[in-house]
Amino acid sequence: MLVCEVLTLFPGIIDAYASESILGKAQASGFVRVHSINIRDFAEGKHRVTDDQPYGGGGGMVMKAAPIFEAVDRLRLDGEERRILFPSPQGRRFDQAFAEELSLESRRLTIVCGRYEGVDERVMAGLVDDEVSLGDYVLTGGELAALAIIDACVRLIPGVLGDARSSSVDSFSWDGLLDYPHYTRPPVYRGMRVPEVLLSGNHEEVRRWRRKEALRRTLVRRPDLIDRAVLDVEDQTLITEIKKEEGHEQD
Ligand code: ADE
Repeated sequence: MLVCEVLTLFPGIIDAYASESILGKAQASGFVRVHSINIRDFAEGKHRVTDDQPYGGGGGMVMKAAPIFEAVDRLRLDGEERRILFPSPQGRRFDQAFAEELSLESRRLTIVCGRYEGVDERVMAGLVDDEVSLGDYVLTGGELAALAIIDACVRLIPGVLGDARSSSVDSFSWDGLLDYPHYTRPPVYRGMRVPEVLLSGNHEEVRRWRRKEALRRTLVRRPDLIDRAVLDVEDQTLITEIKKEEGHEQD
């Protein structure tokens, strides 16, 4: 079972998300356990202060190292191995390959969420295995990133998604291509028609159309992904067709 531990000043954020929908069901079915730990419980003094002014001056507060180390020390009493992650814009970019790597971890995933202006650097130096970035923007804290990481990992665990095909043909997992368009009833809505081929019942034509539209989307929206995608001879034929079609549309 994948065990995720999230050290945070706002455990309610983690618990609320992790108890609903797919993640909630995955926990109930024993595929994953998401455990929130309140860093404040490990802070000293009557007021359990978790932050302080930065050495060297300047604005903002810095999260103290001690409560985070103390919390991890407590967790480690169980003797389990842990991979400790710290979400931050300075980290390794989180992508589907990284999610797949983490979903296969035998160690527990322990995610330390920062807040305020930053966290005492000794947490990174003495505790953290990987800093992980969701992208080139700054969030107010690590909680959303922790949930995104957990969510992306859990849906890859076999059995978590009802339909076994769902996670193997979705965006970024179908040979590295973006997903094809999806439709459901009715066949015409506000004048917009479902592509005829999807109503045809011809499975081979549907498969070919989906592959072609996945390729088209990737070429148009994320051409950078095409170079790394796993493509065969049929794909090359489809790409030639798409380039002709897209070229004509621009005329
Ligand atoms: N914390 C703040 N910004 C972040 C980002 N872009 N990715 C991961 N964690 C963050």
